[in-house]
Amino acid sequence: MNIQLIDKKFLTTKNNLTVKFLTKEKLQKAKFRKTLQKAGFDASQDSIFTMHGKSLLFCGIEDYSTDNLRSVCAVVAKAIKSFDYKSVSVDVDEKNLKAVVEGFVLGGYEFNEYKTKPKKKKIKNLYLTCRDVKALQNEFESAIITAEATCFTRDLVNTTPDDLNPPALAKIAKKLAKQNSLECKVLSKKELKKEKCNALLAVGRASRHDSKLIHLAYKPKNAKKIISLVGKGLTYDSGGLSLKPATSMVTMKMDKAGACAVLGIIKAVSELKLDVEVHAFVGAVENMIGGDAYKPDDVLTSRKGDTIEVRNTDAEGRLVLADVLDYAQDKVKADYIFDFATLTGACMVALGQYTTGIMGHNGNLKHNIRRASGKAGELSASLPFNKHLKKQLKSDIADICNISNKPYGGAITAGLFLDNFIKDENKERWLHFDIAGSAYTESPWDVNVYGATGAGVRMMTQFLKDIKE
Ligand code: BES
Ligand code: ZN
Ligand code: ZN
Repeated sequence: MNIQLIDKKFLTTKNNLTVKFLTKEKLQKAKFRKTLQKAGFDASQDSIFTMHGKSLLFCGIEDYSTDNLRSVCAVVAKAIKSFDYKSVSVDVDEKNLKAVVEGFVLGGYEFNEYKTKPKKKKIKNLYLTCRDVKALQNEFESAIITAEATCFTRDLVNTTPDDLNPPALAKIAKKLAKQNSLECKVLSKKELKKEKCNALLAVGRASRHDSKLIHLAYKPKNAKKIISLVGKGLTYDSGGLSLKPATSMVTMKMDKAGACAVLGIIKAVSELKLDVEVHAFVGAVENMIGGDAYKPDDVLTSRKGDTIEVRNTDAEGRLVLADVLDYAQDKVKADYIFDFATLTGACMVALGQYTTGIMGHNGNLKHNIRRASGKAGELSASLPFNKHLKKQLKSDIADICNISNKPYGGAITAGLFLDNFIKDENKERWLHFDIAGSAYTESPWDVNVYGATGAGVRMMTQFLKDIKE
């Protein structure tokens, strides 16, 4: 669907469906109140009613908050897919513009790459009507960029593991770099060996696809801050020799969601032309089984030099991130380092599947990120570190163990494992985002449809925008 911001007076109403927001209060005074109530429409949040005779679509909202407007627009975007109108129009102002754009773009998202019969889309245009196009143009373009970057991330995550393997992800990163004038470096297996990324390489050893470390950089002239983003890019996580049960393995193509989020964020930031330097580091690896697979009982020497006892090959993300975080810290002296990873099932147990878990030492930074996440419409919560949980990673034979020796607090112990690879000078600069629950869904919620959600993109883009301001 083509989205345009237009002056209200230029709207052609012929074959156009007009969307109207109604609160319960407004419904009492609405022109068509009796008909609406007869149809059972009570203006409750996310309820909709279409009066085709009048070409009007009413949608219920609790209030005019951004979250509620975004959510109902997503419902509308889905409902109108089968409607036979030429266009749809919604009145917008500076307050609701972003929510309406995100609701329609993200709620109307479909991933049809593997469908052989294309769906016919009848509604060609979505007109956002306003009084002063000039005043809203920047905000409109910015909302479109962020929403499309989120869809870009979703497309990548939704792509099957056989199509999107580590070399394929490197190719996509190179293409993005070319399109958006970013610097791009891809480390081959040979170069990764030279860099002593032994933990990362061990995870990918049984795969038929070579592991890659991808580094993209966006360097504007007047950068106010330097940000390093690190993404877990497990293009497939079978669990390795500590093989996942059949039902848990399904959806593990999403284990690259951290990497895809990081690519989506750098895409958004470079298109928004923000005054922040952003580096995206991705560890692209496939965790498979075979005669060459790394094993429980192995001891790996990480790039940092610390030895890691492997007791479970399914706790592979942290091994990959250990090396990528170390590499990123050596290559770029950043003001902030943020890693995104579908790291633990335990994060979902702790917070539910809708919420991103945020971990790190800097309370103030966590607070600011959480504010940006709320503003952007993503759910997040802080999971606190403590010294007792850290002891659970002790190994009898190596410097650290890749799993905890107790079954509780698994999201935090995974975060603490990563913390072991953060240099002292960066402790306060680093945050870890566990998006295991929030990155993927098999039942729609809010602006999310089946599959990848693009978790992290809107939240981090908002945070980086606020730095600029
Ligand atoms: N990729 C998984 C985590 C995950 C689970 C993401 C479910 C999304 C949905 C990760 O590599 C993993 O398998 N973690 C293990 C860690 C355990 C072995 C300590 C887990 O969560 O069970
Ligand atoms: Zn795993
Ligand atoms: Zn994993």
